[in-house]
Amino acid sequence: MAVRKLRVEDFRCLGEVDVDPATGLNFFYGENASGKTSLLEALFVLGRGRSFRASRKDVLIRDGKDAARVIVRGEGHAGTFQAGLEISGGRAELRVNGEPASNVADVAERLPVEVIDPDVQDLVSGGPAERRRYLDWSVFHVEPSFLGAWRRYQRALRHRTALLRQGARGRELDPWEEEMELRARAIDEARQRALAGIVPLVRDFGSSLLDAEIRLAYRAGHGEDSSLGTQLAAGRERDAKMGQTVKGPHRADVHVEVFDRRARGRVSRGQQKLVAASMILGQHRYQAEATGETGVLLVDDVSAELDRGRVGRLLEALSSIPGQVWITALDRSDIGNLQPDRMFHVEQGKVTAVV
Ligand SMILES: Nc1ncnc2c1ncn2[C@@H]1O[C@H](COP(=O)(O)OP(=O)(O)OP(=O)(O)O)[C@@H](O)[C@H]1O
Ligand SMILES: [Mg+2]
Repeated sequence: MAVRKLRVEDFRCLGEVDVDPATGLNFFYGENASGKTSLLEALFVLGRGRSFRASRKDVLIRDGKDAARVIVRGEGHAGTFQAGLEISGGRAELRVNGEPASNVADVAERLPVEVIDPDVQDLVSGGPAERRRYLDWSVFHVEPSFLGAWRRYQRALRHRTALLRQGARGRELDPWEEEMELRARAIDEARQRALAGIVPLVRDFGSSLLDAEIRLAYRAGHGEDSSLGTQLAAGRERDAKMGQTVKGPHRADVHVEVFDRRARGRVSRGQQKLVAASMILGQHRYQAEATGETGVLLVDDVSAELDRGRVGRLLEALSSIPGQVWITALDRSDIGNLQPDRMFHVEQGKVTAVV
């Protein structure tokens, strides 16, 4: 899949911006505060339903305006599609091919996006939620039926936790715990399948980007010697006291190990960035191999935290991966000898193709 046209209206500092990217490597350069991150963010918000740097949607609307819009024409194996997002009054409305879309998945399945930005380290140094999200997006793109199992699991989890809080301790919990066990099995298996596909690719990127072996392992969030149902039934008192369900795939994690040590808190910021970038690159390649369809990879501020040699390695990896890549940097010289397919200058919220 490649974005053939992107139109952005009143999104952050961007007024009206039209971009016709190449299907391969696109490079955007411009000074601080020119709007580079905002441009990538606009595309990401459309594909993922949330920003990679803001939790509230209203901050995305340009100051003094009522609504922000992002419209994409994309081209994939299934043909061309149009997807649009309008944010106004704290609400986000999505459209796919002119029809209202009921949820993010309708856009996300057509427009897979991943991002490597200066905060990508959080994937390694942050909490398990980041890593679960990382893994779950891959599972979603490769096995769309995962979403159904995930929603049913979440529903049962909400019911069980609510019942515990209301004082329930007996049989009324059984159906929800049984449902959780059933869905957890599907979720754990799908995650493990995806991770098994991702692991060797991440290892390859790890050795080319930082000469280190990156090992990833799934931690299910519940013990392996008994079924989740048994563990839930045995943990009712504790969970009621804590007011939450502490076992299950909603507590899963991906264990990241590099240089034979736990990666978190042990490696430098630059190394963490390269570990996280290897994870994203591996995910990107896995999805492409498993589905035959590539996503769009957004790389914001490519040289942040990296020395020249390491930026060079990252750029080399980016030019070798399949699919469309959007890279930003402050200056043209930041990408050395790399020859992008199309280059754009970003200046005060305007984006101009450079010939
Ligand atoms: N809702 C908004 N309305 C108007 N301007 C905004 C809004 N949100 C952010 N901005 C401004 O948009 C400008 C561009 O921000 P952006 O982060 O896209 O720049 P950038 O080119 O990525 O800069 P850097 O190189 O420093 O990362 C900033 O000056 C920021 O203050
Ligand atoms: Mg930026």
